[in-house]
Amino acid sequence: MDYKFKQDNYDFWVERLNSNSPNQVCTNDVGLDAIESNAILSRISDGASILEIGCGNGILYEQLRRLFNLEKYVGTDFVKELVAHCNTKKIHARDEFIQLDMTQVDSETFDSKFDFIVSKRAIQNVIDHKLQIEAIDNFGSFLKDGGLMILVESSSNAQQRINSARQEYKLPKISAPFHNLFFDDELIRNHTFQNVNLVDIEPFASDFYFVTRIIYARYAKEFLNEDPSYDHPLQKIALSLSEKQRTKDFSQIQCYLFEKKK
Ligand SMILES: C[S@@+](CC[C@H](N)C(=O)[O-])C[C@H]1O[C@@H](n2cnc3c(N)ncnc32)[C@H](O)[C@@H]1O
Repeated sequence: MDYKFKQDNYDFWVERLNSNSPNQVCTNDVGLDAIESNAILSRISDGASILEIGCGNGILYEQLRRLFNLEKYVGTDFVKELVAHCNTKKIHARDEFIQLDMTQVDSETFDSKFDFIVSKRAIQNVIDHKLQIEAIDNFGSFLKDGGLMILVESSSNAQQRINSARQEYKLPKISAPFHNLFFDDELIRNHTFQNVNLVDIEPFASDFYFVTRIIYARYAKEFLNEDPSYDHPLQKIALSLSEKQRTKDFSQIQCYLFEKKK
């Protein structure tokens, strides 16, 4: 399906593959990326079959293969160059990387079902809420009974709450990048999916965003007179808060959990 900025999005990811170190192809914030991966890795177990939506340059794949004795892993991405790159680092002969546009999944796309279907900031690349929902539902038809879909994606609602708090302290508004449309949580909560049920939306990075985007942002502006940096100690303290979420509202990145509809 066509949608806004689709080709620009494709070109954006090719450019990042060609100009960044492997751990920074898909994100600039390596610390936060580890927390995001952990939201997925902490739920996986040995013997599982895994389908990844938007596998990028295969960073999560390598972690999954290092930590678990998987039955099978299938990575999908619409960028041919990323899929070719992933194929050069295949760890197990059973694993597959497939060039696939997530808006074109149908009942014939895969010939087996999976214990886990996962994504990390991939579905938010589709700049159309209806197509995002269709992609979730179409992938959901390939979830095994008792399987779990773990989508780590950004929330426009949480971003609005961060911006309301920032406004109180005259901090500039944060916007989604041009190639992303963050999830609309109300739309997802209220939608009746055919193949999956929403189990939970977990705000696993709320404390991280509260400390970095509000507390540290104020400190940098009001006391240090400098722009926030990923290397600042407060950034590291924020990362260490990931185990216990004392706040709930500020998790710009969230874990959307779906189970197979019975
Ligand atoms: C933020 S990266 C995530 C990569 C990987 N999950 C990771 O965390 O390292 C988003 C990925 O989504 C892919 N993507 C964007 N639009 C897509 C589409 N319509 N179909 C499939 N993949 C897409 C991009 O090519 C990119 O590799």
